Amino acid sequence: MERWSSRTGFILAAIGSAVGIGNIWRFSSVVGQNGGGAFLIPYFLAVLLFAVPLMLLEMAVGRHLRADVVSCFGRAGERFKIFGWLICLILLVILSYYLVITGWTLAYLVFSLLDLKIAFSLFTSSMQPVACFLISAIVTGAIVCLGVRRGIEKIVSTLIPFAFVILLILVLFSITLPGFHPGMSFFLSPDFSMLARPGVWSAALGQAFFSLSVGMGILITYGAYLDDETDILQSALVITIADLAVAMLAGASIFSLVFTFGLEPTAGSELAFTTLPGGFELMPHGRAFAAAFFALLFSAALTSAISMLEVNVAAIMGETSMSRTKASILLTMTGILIGLPSCLSYSSVDLNLDGSKILDLMDETLGTIGLPVAAFLIAFVFRWFTDNDVLSHEVHITESQLRLLSLLINYAIPVALLIVMVSRFIDL
Ligand code: TRP
Repeated sequence: MERWSSRTGFILAAIGSAVGIGNIWRFSSVVGQNGGGAFLIPYFLAVLLFAVPLMLLEMAVGRHLRADVVSCFGRAGERFKIFGWLICLILLVILSYYLVITGWTLAYLVFSLLDLKIAFSLFTSSMQPVACFLISAIVTGAIVCLGVRRGIEKIVSTLIPFAFVILLILVLFSITLPGFHPGMSFFLSPDFSMLARPGVWSAALGQAFFSLSVGMGILITYGAYLDDETDILQSALVITIADLAVAMLAGASIFSLVFTFGLEPTAGSELAFTTLPGGFELMPHGRAFAAAFFALLFSAALTSAISMLEVNVAAIMGETSMSRTKASILLTMTGILIGLPSCLSYSSVDLNLDGSKILDLMDETLGTIGLPVAAFLIAFVFRWFTDNDVLSHEVHITESQLRLLSLLINYAIPVALLIVMVSRFIDL
């Protein structure tokens, strides 16, 4: 099995997986809808008490068993393998529509470089989204096909530092804007009454797992390529802090822009592809900023997509005798087939079910329910059916810290995830 060439390679790849479209616009929208600054309290708690412990477990299991997700489940018991495949399937579906959005960011990057002003509705009423989706899928497949060191590590070592530089420039610029203060108070002013709503806590948990890419076996897969010396706890903290920092900084600059140019602080795809491009047009050097913003989004999306595909490719390689090249081609093609309906729902074909776009349906069903289900299976199987020593062997912490960690993973996390799953099923 291949290994990362260094600890930095691993950390950058894990940051690449964590930092994605979710940090840049999902976070700001979730904060806005759930009480502004007050949301940060359940969010930080969810990150610290739930996401980080599960991240530690995933990395420990991956490195200990040195295998892909399906084989790791198989080691816990042959009957659990099916859970591994289920997680791969959920991830492949999430990947399929994630690549559609990656394609949009690519299109808008190209538009800003060429100085074309194309309204989102005009863009989606053409066939351009399909072309961009295919390009994004093929680029993702090609990088995974090149392997852990020559493909993934190489691309993240370039894109992640580049993305951080762009983000810092955007933030420094946004501080000088007149809308910075009102933007920050919209983003951060707390409405504590929101904390009484259970939905806010469930949103915090969902966002924490989604943003850190925890609970989907990505860190099991990436952890399997990790050398024995790297400190897992330290790495997990670096990844978490980087992910939180990107979310906060991106939120700060987005709301500063929104308030400076009197835009609607609405969220979601509309904010990134309609509202902000409108703002960029009004500002000096707007074209350069638009290009920088979409380059940031595209880099973040691509490195996340790579991690989702790698989990599947590793599983197929581990469970069959297929080569990396064949597995990458096969899974990229499958991802394209599954993603095509989502892609066509935001194109001139306008594919929808009862008026809902397929992409939105996928996200609201599998994207929303799939994550807590997968995270639950990982926490449950790897704590109750594998050797209890995995954590103490791989994560170097004191006896009492270990007891606390086990308590969280054995009881608190499965119970919290069950509550989230049930509440989301009821909402569907
Ligand atoms: N964390 C990424 C983001 O913030 C998205 C992502 C990557 C993801 N891998 C994942 C989400 C696995 C869920 C599961 O955009």
